[in-house]
Amino acid sequence: MTAQSRKVLQVLNGETLSPPPIWLMRQAGRYLPEYRQTRAKAGSFLDLCYSPDMAVEVTLQPIRRYGFDAAILFSDILVIPDALKRNVRFEEGHGPRMDPIAVSEIAKLDVRPVSGHLQPVIETVRRLRRELPDETTLLGFCGAPWTVATYMIAGQGTPDQAPARLFGYQHPEAFDRLLAVLAEVSADYLVEQIDAGADAVQIFDSWAGVLGEEEFRRYAVEPVRRMIDNVRARRPHAKIIAFAKGAGILLKDYRQATNADAIGLDWSVPLSFAAELQKDGPVQGNLDPMRVVAGGQSLDDGIDAILQTLGNGPLIFNLGHGITPQADPAHVSQLVARVRGTGQ
Ligand code: CP3
Repeated sequence: MTAQSRKVLQVLNGETLSPPPIWLMRQAGRYLPEYRQTRAKAGSFLDLCYSPDMAVEVTLQPIRRYGFDAAILFSDILVIPDALKRNVRFEEGHGPRMDPIAVSEIAKLDVRPVSGHLQPVIETVRRLRRELPDETTLLGFCGAPWTVATYMIAGQGTPDQAPARLFGYQHPEAFDRLLAVLAEVSADYLVEQIDAGADAVQIFDSWAGVLGEEEFRRYAVEPVRRMIDNVRARRPHAKIIAFAKGAGILLKDYRQATNADAIGLDWSVPLSFAAELQKDGPVQGNLDPMRVVAGGQSLDDGIDAILQTLGNGPLIFNLGHGITPQADPAHVSQLVARVRGTGQ
């Protein structure tokens, strides 16, 4: 068996598979008891990300349990600001925190330690490719510059990223420089993941949906286009999924402008529009994660609607955003069985 039989990769190459391959964003996480067990042993969340033994273990947990068609490297998008020495911590019950970056610090950002700092993550990728079943696609990932910048500016998550939006208007040059630095170090990081054995990579722009049209082009499209060009200039066959959550009708231009192999769709994308987008290339998504929490008929109905509308074209079945901690693992079994048509 070779990489040719990795189904997620086949769809990224434009093939239509029936049933479609499936993986879930945040498939390794707190909804799984075995994750909570490893997490408790790890100490801090970043220690878990930087310990190849434990990071490999939690990446494999959902593969063992459900046989997903892709494994996604266990790490976090905020390892990049951590590598840029922004004092990142994950506080219980508060989500991520870091030192908010000042305008004067942006010019002085030192990108040199980034690759060295992230070597434990690269080692995790290397080991995963050895340990995963041959037919499982291995996905690497990073955050998009805009989404990572929102955390670096506010120093934490915020409901609508007002601090970063304001910063963009008040300090446009510093903001462009921050996005450019993030695009460059993130492209290098993706190339390292690909070289270590990632079959494809996903760029998460989880906060794309709070941007106005002009800002979307400047902060979301342009840096991601540059990143993808940069990666492809060095690794022409790199396969890239771009997930711009909340981008709505702008997704049509987003695919064209960034040249991503596939675009991720959140659950607010109407299926009729998703079918239009699929005419231009593979799509990934877009079940509402709350349907997985609900289970039962609402889960089945949501799955069936996606399969009916998008199942005859290149589709990677996924959620519209990450699975949440309150999801019942049995509902995930129901989901996988229904997508695969293996009943339950
Ligand atoms: O299974 C996978 O999908 C791979 C691992 C992964 C994690 N985070 C693990 C994680 C991936 C791909 C991410 C991406 C990520 N991280 C994003 C983009 C996708 C998205 O969900 O929007 C963002 C915005 C982050 C930043 C981040 N990391 C936040 C806001 C939080 C706190 C929120 C929360 O759920 O607690 C994290 C922590 C985090 N990253 C956890 C996991 C499993 C939970 C922390 C823990 O286990 O203690």
